[in-house]
Amino acid sequence: MLRSSLTTQLFAKIHLSLRVAPEMAYYFVKSLACRTTTALRDFPIIPPFLAATQHNDISEIGYMFGKKLSGENQLVDARHFRSIEKVNLKRNLFSEKQAAVVVDGDHKVEAFFRDSSLENEEYLTAKAYLTEKILDNIEFGLLEQMTEEMKRARVGEVALRIIREEILIPLTVAQVELLKEQAIDDLLGFGPLEVLLADPDVSDIMVNGSKRVFVEKSGRIMLTDVTFINEKHLVNVIQKIVSIVGRRVDESSPMVDARMPDGSRFNAIIPPLALDGSLVSIRKFRRQKISLKEYIDFGSMTQEMVKFLSICGHIRLNILISGGTGSGKTTLLNALSGNISNSERVITVEDTAELQLQQPHVLRLETRPPNMQGAGEITARQLVKNALRMRPDRIIIGEIRSDEVIDVLSAMNTGHDGSMATIHANTPRDALSRVENLVGMSKVNMSSGSLKNQIASALHLIVQVARQRDGKRRVTHIEEVVGMENNEIVTNPLFIFRPGQMGEDGVLQGEFYCTKTRPSFLSQAAYFGREKEMLLSLGLE
Ligand SMILES: Nc1ncnc2c1ncn2[C@@H]1O[C@H](COP(=O)(O)OP(=O)(O)O)[C@@H](O)[C@H]1O
Ligand SMILES: [Mg+2]
Repeated sequence: MLRSSLTTQLFAKIHLSLRVAPEMAYYFVKSLACRTTTALRDFPIIPPFLAATQHNDISEIGYMFGKKLSGENQLVDARHFRSIEKVNLKRNLFSEKQAAVVVDGDHKVEAFFRDSSLENEEYLTAKAYLTEKILDNIEFGLLEQMTEEMKRARVGEVALRIIREEILIPLTVAQVELLKEQAIDDLLGFGPLEVLLADPDVSDIMVNGSKRVFVEKSGRIMLTDVTFINEKHLVNVIQKIVSIVGRRVDESSPMVDARMPDGSRFNAIIPPLALDGSLVSIRKFRRQKISLKEYIDFGSMTQEMVKFLSICGHIRLNILISGGTGSGKTTLLNALSGNISNSERVITVEDTAELQLQQPHVLRLETRPPNMQGAGEITARQLVKNALRMRPDRIIIGEIRSDEVIDVLSAMNTGHDGSMATIHANTPRDALSRVENLVGMSKVNMSSGSLKNQIASALHLIVQVARQRDGKRRVTHIEEVVGMENNEIVTNPLFIFRPGQMGEDGVLQGEFYCTKTRPSFLSQAAYFGREKEMLLSLGLE
């Protein structure tokens, strides 16, 4: 079989060229969508490697040796690894001789050995010069008006001209071709960010200056091997992104927020405010929602918790989801909203529209930041107030950040049961204090006692989510808000996650514990005919 002989060949090659113990070597698979290390496995395991050659979006397969990637939040840098051998499956840049064809049943995959001699010292010197030069030679304004094809052609032309006229280093035809291709990839679209944006596993992209790009991938933060040519290149990419929403970034407005075409949230801050080069944060828009059921597969909740929460959503409890940044608040709010019935009129209020409710009767509102002159702002509070005049059955607030909290509380207390919101806090207790503080910070005067009273009667349930040490997100508390006692709001935990030891597999051990408490809103469950089910989910029947 050709296929296995290719593998054997590669296997042998590594041993020859590495002269290291096999357990020191790992192979990596780069998909088109991802330039960082996607699959790292101990070297002797060959089957996944074989499977990878059949994937359409795999562009490179290679080998590295060095430190093993494991542990928590460890910086993962592909540069820690010396790339030994690469097989390029997509780019047709290699000569016939270096090509191998892999055949497996009906699949036919062409594989090309990347000629590592292409990227020799001369090549790298030429590349450094070209990338520096090309930025000054491209009229980005003009490019924006061109079609994708024209853009590629234009950048290719400029690259070739510079290579021919200014770079005196002798290069082979294949090298020139590769240089041109790399220049086009770097400059067009969102440049180096493109691969990260296209990688579905990357949830956040953090650019700390032109040479350090971090991503969050399955809950872990890692350094990637993606870099920008220089600061100017980075600012150019930032400019391109914010120009889509008609904004500019420059010294007079060095901070920008924008929504990218795919819905991702983009923030950039450039020098002089950022001291060591421009900083970019992108929170990628998740096309995929996580359904409540999937929380069970992810180990984020037990089946009983999911059952319980879906009943709570259906029977119109007022629910506050609490958690830190990136802990999964919005995701859970989205999942919970799946239990709202189709006949209800739901209004959502968000700073940046992220919720993806499927019901037919959903009215989406989004706040508006002030314009450059500081005018025209529409706050969440104004929107919530307006929403209340729109005869909603429920109001859903993406995140409570400010004085809209007052109107949310009064909505919950005046017949808009089933309202839901998220808030930034680390425990259910904190969430309650944060609600209090937000009211305190607003201009509304209310005695502490009556404020607490109002909070206690508005909220039924607090659901705490957390991103824990192992990078996993879990629902750590489901607490019922019972009422007032001795001037304090009383809550009752119904489910708690009790963390244990860190497991050897890097997953935090622990158990989801059900307190088997009868919640005070059982009567409301009964009203909706779901009392029995609720008791069952709480282990009480
Ligand atoms: N239970 C979960 N398991 C795995 N990933 C999750 C879970 N909940 C959320 N995520 C992911 O975590 C990231 C942050 O979630 P998000 O809901 O936006 O957080 P927050 O609103 O708290 O800032 C998203 O990429 C989301 O898909
Ligand atoms: Mg959120």
